[in-house]
Amino acid sequence: MSSDLEALLHETRRFAPPAAFAAAANAQPSIYDEAAADPVAWWRQQARRLTWDVEPTETLSWNRPFATWFADGRLNASVNCVDRHVANGLGDRVAFHWVGEPEDDTRTITYRDLLAMVSQAAHALTDMGVRRGDRVAIYMPMIPEAVVAMLACARIGAAHSVVFGGFAADALSDRIRDADCRVVITADGGYRRGAAAALKPTVDEALADCPGVTGVLVVRRTGQDVAFVEGRDHWWHDLVERQSTEHQPESFPAEQPLYIMYTSGTTARPKGIMHSTGGYLTQVATTHWYAHDLKPETDVCWTSADIGWVTGHSYIVYGPLANGATQVMYEGTPDAGGRDRWWRIVEEYKVTILYTAPTAIRTFMKWGKEFPAAHDLSSLRLLGSVGEPINPEAWIWFYETIGGSRCPVIDTWWQTETGGMMMTPLPGIAAAKPGAAMRAFPGISVDVVDHDGHSVGNGQGGFLVITQPWPAMTRGIWGDPERFAETYWSRFENAYFAGDGAKRDEDGDIWLLGRVDDVMNISGHRISTTEVEHALVGHHSVAEAAVVGASDETTGQAIVAFVTLKQEFAEQSDDELITQLREHIARTISPIAKPRQIVFTPDLPKTRSGKIMRRLLRDVAEHRALGDVTTLTDPNVVNMIGDLMNAHQSDDE
Ligand code: WTA
Repeated sequence: MSSDLEALLHETRRFAPPAAFAAAANAQPSIYDEAAADPVAWWRQQARRLTWDVEPTETLSWNRPFATWFADGRLNASVNCVDRHVANGLGDRVAFHWVGEPEDDTRTITYRDLLAMVSQAAHALTDMGVRRGDRVAIYMPMIPEAVVAMLACARIGAAHSVVFGGFAADALSDRIRDADCRVVITADGGYRRGAAAALKPTVDEALADCPGVTGVLVVRRTGQDVAFVEGRDHWWHDLVERQSTEHQPESFPAEQPLYIMYTSGTTARPKGIMHSTGGYLTQVATTHWYAHDLKPETDVCWTSADIGWVTGHSYIVYGPLANGATQVMYEGTPDAGGRDRWWRIVEEYKVTILYTAPTAIRTFMKWGKEFPAAHDLSSLRLLGSVGEPINPEAWIWFYETIGGSRCPVIDTWWQTETGGMMMTPLPGIAAAKPGAAMRAFPGISVDVVDHDGHSVGNGQGGFLVITQPWPAMTRGIWGDPERFAETYWSRFENAYFAGDGAKRDEDGDIWLLGRVDDVMNISGHRISTTEVEHALVGHHSVAEAAVVGASDETTGQAIVAFVTLKQEFAEQSDDELITQLREHIARTISPIAKPRQIVFTPDLPKTRSGKIMRRLLRDVAEHRALGDVTTLTDPNVVNMIGDLMNAHQSDDE
């Protein structure tokens, strides 16, 4: 670490936005007061960014914990993202500079192209029997057809449920069944880490348990051989590309469900987070406009997320497209074709706004400055971070090495459930501190409270809560309204509890401190401890398992699993079994859920009431001195586990 950097870290410097940036920023300082004067009216004003077939006269209706926004308005999300730009004469504007993982595999898609593709796909889905109110699963690589598939569903009023392409068959199958999807859109495969990876076989395996699925639409991406089920499976190039490129869109009520996105909670079952149309689009377009300071005529935006997560939904698809932005979309891994792949892309497409995750930044730091230094990154003018707390060192590296000490860095806090950004310093008008999300976005009310729900003062820590409804807030958990109330609205009276710890510093600025529940954050992926424990116990050798997230320099957190084997396997606690268990998790959940370390232990630390004490295991996993162990049945257990842990170090990938 340079001594400059060290000094910065210790003094918590404020980074004021560069004067030139500030003068032309979309957000001017009065925005906070304007929004605070009447947040609901301010959001109604923001809803004017959208094109409504019927203008809403209603704004917020709040029946805690259920809100509706703009309920009597009518609109079509795909028209807002595509048609209206073409109608406004912007048909030739590039919507996507798509970059495939193999070198020189690129496509340029204008808004006019996108309109034709979405129209054809909408016809094809209708031909396959998809109707308004149905659900469609999308399990795809990062190719333009993934975006087209989402917009085509929106166009005909079917809710999409995109499942991250890294999920295994069981996880995919659970999600398809839970949402009762009628159709699945997928591809033969995609390119990752320099090779073609298959997707279709996983879909086939998943569908063995999903009798409700009547049709599968398959994009040919890699040319791999795939099995086809007669009558059920169709090639995209057969069924979609023969359709008319004109499609008459319908208009839907603002509260029409737009999508379901599954996310991990504290139980083994993932929750289907539902989003609506009008409120959601309003917030993602507004936040993208102000926080990314979008200048649609000149900017080239690159959100590096996968379409399978909410960041891809809100800041690749709905926010930027509603705003008519030009984007880069990249299919592959950051080191495919060299560790400078990203920086080559930035240079080639003159990317101006880069929105990424702390894990990626820390990986680039590890690789070294020479890779970005070899490229002209002077087109960049704004940098953003999302998904996990960003450590000040990574923030400063991003600011200096990637942004040339010239670009504001926005640290944006939000969640699948919030739909859009909730906290961020607005570039141009708010100072930023490395590592702090600083304050709420205009029109959003957050607080940091203690155990009893009272606001904490400056210099104190507590829990982050959201105290007023917001337009993109989830409309609930698919099929389980009670669980929604219980999960988010029962811990504190009259506030949404996000599950994150936070502190308010001496200036009143807010810092996020990570999850305070049993949700882990691995490279920005939310994974529940219980889900992994469940998967482990599902293996024939395992009697009991406890899983914790331990801090990790690159991935933020990494999974450490403590496993008690069944009697007959107790002798087998060797590396081969560790490999088997890790593979088992990759197969049942996803490779991203593979533990960094598995420790076999004859016992787990439990309270007298039989609850596993994860807090202690986290201390063990992070090599910390143990806290209070007086409630344990057998305090010796943790010391023994600590010894075992040091004896059996298993390597990460
Ligand atoms: C974490 C991703 C600190 C947080 C958009 C939250 C963050 C969870 C930040 C949501 C940030 C996201 N600083 N922590 N800037 N952004 N988080 O649903 O714990 O995948 O609750 O949504 O990520 O993850 P999700």
